[in-house]
Amino acid sequence: MKNENLIKEMNVYLANLNLLYVKLHNYHWNIQGKGFFQLHATYETLYDHVTETLDEVAERILIIGERPAASMKEYMALATLKERESAPIAVEASVKEVYEDFEVMYQDTLKLIALAEEAQDPVTADMFTGYAAEFHKNLWMMRSYLA
Ligand SMILES: [Fe+2]
Repeated sequence: MKNENLIKEMNVYLANLNLLYVKLHNYHWNIQGKGFFQLHATYETLYDHVTETLDEVAERILIIGERPAASMKEYMALATLKERESAPIAVEASVKEVYEDFEVMYQDTLKLIALAEEAQDPVTADMFTGYAAEFHKNLWMMRSYLA
């Protein structure tokens, strides 16, 4: 099957989005210090966006004829991002951590665009191009924050 590798990597991406969804709540709850109010709200915006994206990715897997991973057990087995402990963290340190995860997601998104193009699936490639633009923009905003 031509898109076998694409679907496998889409499931890894889906697992990472699920992990990111939980991890952004972790920061939303556990950040401390100046900038709390702003970043607390920003992390909510980000996890709301992540949940829309993970739903689109899962449904796209169904549309192209496979089953999306749909359990925490599978997500933890597939995810390449790492969870963080349930503990307080300074606002700026949290942005640095989120930046690292978003950089990984951005690079993985670019790989998925290439895989979708290889599989001659322009719709999936287009979806991931949108996600790449979003991650790229967020990386720039976080760099501006950290500068
Ligand atoms: Fe909240």
